[in-house]
Amino acid sequence: MKRIVSGITPSGDGTLHIGNYLGAVQQFKEIAKDNECYLFVADLHALTTIQNKGILKKNSEQLILCELALLGDLKNIVFFRQSDVPMHTELQSILNNVTPYGLLRRAHAYKDKLSKDVSEEDINLGLFNYPILMASDILLYKPDLVPVGKDQKQHVEITRDIAERFNKIFKKEVFPLPEPFIPEEVAVIVGTDGQRKMSKSLGNIISIFESEEVIRKQVMGCFTDPTRKHATDPGHIEGNMVFTYLDYFGNHKEVSELKERYTHGNVSDVEVKEYLYASILAYFTEARKRYLDLKNNPKEVANILLQGAEKAREIAKNTMSEVRETIGLTNSYSFFQYPYRVSTDPITLNEFSLVDIRVGFVDKAENVEKSDKLIRLHVDFGDGGKRTIFTGVRGYGYTSADFVNHRFLFVYNLKPRKMMNEESQGMILAVDGDTLPVGEHGLRKPFFIAADNLPIGAKVR
Ligand code: ADP
Ligand code: TRP
Repeated sequence: MKRIVSGITPSGDGTLHIGNYLGAVQQFKEIAKDNECYLFVADLHALTTIQNKGILKKNSEQLILCELALLGDLKNIVFFRQSDVPMHTELQSILNNVTPYGLLRRAHAYKDKLSKDVSEEDINLGLFNYPILMASDILLYKPDLVPVGKDQKQHVEITRDIAERFNKIFKKEVFPLPEPFIPEEVAVIVGTDGQRKMSKSLGNIISIFESEEVIRKQVMGCFTDPTRKHATDPGHIEGNMVFTYLDYFGNHKEVSELKERYTHGNVSDVEVKEYLYASILAYFTEARKRYLDLKNNPKEVANILLQGAEKAREIAKNTMSEVRETIGLTNSYSFFQYPYRVSTDPITLNEFSLVDIRVGFVDKAENVEKSDKLIRLHVDFGDGGKRTIFTGVRGYGYTSADFVNHRFLFVYNLKPRKMMNEESQGMILAVDGDTLPVGEHGLRKPFFIAADNLPIGAKVR
């Protein structure tokens, strides 16, 4: 298992076409079968060109949906957004200091821009610094390989340069040198015009997630064989986009037969296009379904990104701690800790002491009518007021009688939370009942911590 890092910039409109799929996503899925992959949406990189809130939002959302839909199973893939892992920019500002100005001036992206008669006044530093942010993206995860298109090879080489300099200057092999990985066999997919690289801006694409009508129209517009006037004329396969795409998406045997018929003038252009249309839809059926499911379920998407960001931060955090230590930012007075944590990270005593747990007396309890789970507890903490606190345990067989006139432990300083349009002003503490019977929800029945002989309002320390 090798570690792989790659980023995708939402600089286009975020939609993906079959060229993107065949030229990039498919390879990545292949690599992910037996490697540990970190794949992120490089939204900070997009800022070099996209400086409009609405557009950046829309492009990023679109790209996230398309990628997730096409990737499907995220086994071995940590998928996240660059801006959700702030260590990318933190490392960039450190690497700025070991990167020679001349190195960046030789970078293609910057040179290309200059040669297009754009004056230096019109080139922002984000573009100039792009390779350093990319180096940070990569080095944070200490990957073995970075899969990129040919146009990005130089960026990986610059990354190696920067890593080498850092290691040399600070006399520690913090960053292993990553290798660019350019899948050679990846052909550039030609567009439906039969001439130029398939590209959204050229309008020669076949979409993946557009409506069936749009895709049908795109397929019907494919360049075929201009010498062929009638379905009975013998047709050519070479350079015929319908057959080019069919080689990827069609059924091998059926495609061979169609080619045979086409060259003998036994099948019309419309018929082969219909077959291509059906093949593409069949090929992407699951991805298209996933796309709609995800689109209708923003919480699920957010959750995937959250989990991805947590995993990425865990690695990024370790690298950054090492970097801080190596360059001398850490000293005898240091207290800094990254605020991003995963649930298994230990918390400090100070953090724990922020949680205020008190003994509360339940003087009244009743079922919440419109719910089949909730019980409303009226809790006295001996502080003059009464609090309403909900617990959702009727499914386990608990009734209000189990609570009334008893004392329990509650979290006292919890932000109130709306439950069935009412505020729950705290939380009752329970123990996971490992040895207790499984309740209706299939979960272990919780066991409430009785505090009947403790004083009302007493704090737990
Ligand atoms: P472009 O490469 O045109 O700027 P994107 O940045 O949207 O387009 O491309 C995202 C990924 O899809 C890149 O890895 C790129 O190489 C790949 N890709 C885009 N268009 C094609 C194509 N026509 N054939 C093969 N790969 C493509
Ligand atoms: N610059 C890459 C592109 O334009 C995207 C990218 C950003 C990237 N950070 C990366 C790719 C890190 C690989 C690794 O395609």
